[in-house]
Amino acid sequence: MATQIDIESPQTPKPLDGTSSLTFSALIEKLNSQTTPPALAELTSWLANVEISQLDLQPYVGFKEGNYWRHRVCRNEAVEMLIICWRPGQKTPIHDHNGSHGVVRVQQGLMFETIFAYDEQRGLTEDTSRECADGTITGADVPDIHQLGNPDVSGRDLITVHVYAPPLGVLKTYKLGSSQVDLYTPNDFPT
Ligand SMILES: [Fe+2]
Repeated sequence: MATQIDIESPQTPKPLDGTSSLTFSALIEKLNSQTTPPALAELTSWLANVEISQLDLQPYVGFKEGNYWRHRVCRNEAVEMLIICWRPGQKTPIHDHNGSHGVVRVQQGLMFETIFAYDEQRGLTEDTSRECADGTITGADVPDIHQLGNPDVSGRDLITVHVYAPPLGVLKTYKLGSSQVDLYTPNDFPT
């Protein structure tokens, strides 16, 4: 099942569970210190409570015309964090995380998320779709199948922050109306 938590105030996310707010560098330190994959609820709480400034984002902001661009912030055996930059119309393939769970925070812009249902007989069907404004935190548990992107008509760039535990490896991709499953390795350094 998808875990979807909307944060009302994008600039100052409210603590969900009494956790005090984190700086971006404190979050990186926390992630680097993990030795086993943190639970989805923990990742959700951390991303909901971190304050990320323009200065924090700066090293990880860069856009390409051909595809969205993944920028890795940190990674160890337990967890990884990425910042992804999307021009309008750029989107992921339909995919699952092949055993990892993950949380996405919409940092700037508008993100769409479509969640799919898979059945060997019927193939892949669309389940729910929604648009997520700045400040939205959305979690993907195992075995959620989804697609994320910046809507064609958004008219502005999108920046999202992603935490996955364990780190992503080879992902499975799907096609609407088909029961075919393919493998996909995200490319961090596209040309
Ligand atoms: Fe994903």
